[in-house]
Amino acid sequence: MATREEINSSWEKNWVNNKTLWHLDFVNPFLQKYFHMLSIEVGKRIIVPLCGKTMDLIWLYQQGLVVVGVEFASIPCTRFFEDNLLSYTIENHGSYNVYKHDERLIIYQGDLFEFNAQKLGGCFDFWWDRGGLVAMVVEEQQKYVDHLKSLMHQSKFSALMETYEYDSSLRSGAPPQSINKKQLQDLFTDSVKLEELDRVSEDNLPENYTAKLGCSSTLVCYLITLN
Ligand SMILES: C[S@@+](CC[C@H](N)C(=O)[O-])C[C@H]1O[C@@H](n2cnc3c(N)ncnc32)[C@H](O)[C@@H]1O
Repeated sequence: MATREEINSSWEKNWVNNKTLWHLDFVNPFLQKYFHMLSIEVGKRIIVPLCGKTMDLIWLYQQGLVVVGVEFASIPCTRFFEDNLLSYTIENHGSYNVYKHDERLIIYQGDLFEFNAQKLGGCFDFWWDRGGLVAMVVEEQQKYVDHLKSLMHQSKFSALMETYEYDSSLRSGAPPQSINKKQLQDLFTDSVKLEELDRVSEDNLPENYTAKLGCSSTLVCYLITLN
């Protein structure tokens, strides 16, 4: 398996070379459709791990939440604020930078695995995962889930997650990884409730995912709750 440094540097190269096919110029449809299932209260905290420069950050901010993105590469951090004409400051904290619009919209630029809840300003109530777990190499999926769980309130949290399902033998192993419900439940263990909310086949996707992935796929949305 490649080292963490090699993996991070390959993501950074994707941004430098504009190889960011995963980026959507619109808010994620599953997020908009199922957001109400998170029992949101204004002022609660949501984490968007591996956020890139997703529009979802702004949409979540508009819903009144404290929105915290975590992203390794610097390019999407600056582009997120500049493309959306949002003022921002940058603070350097040694191994990571903090890009801040205000106290409710912040991107921590650094390796997700280097952050604990304290560094990120406290634990989280909610977690939106699009292109997060599926972007991890298979060997790091358990570490990713355990790490994210450690950032959430230990008594109660909920998450929405988008995953892909496709025939893994048809692709090279590059992200996004295919992951089914059983695999997801095993990663989370029985300590959380996993509910499939929706699945959309390629025929009904808003853009040409098949061409992007190189094989036919289904997008699945889960609600994950710890009560
Ligand atoms: C597939 S993209 C998804 C981006 C975003 N969630 C979206 O929906 O557009 C994965 C992102 O995670 C970032 N990334 C990968 N590994 C990371 C890590 N260990 N820590 C922080 N960011 C990471 C990459 O630079 C990339 O921008």
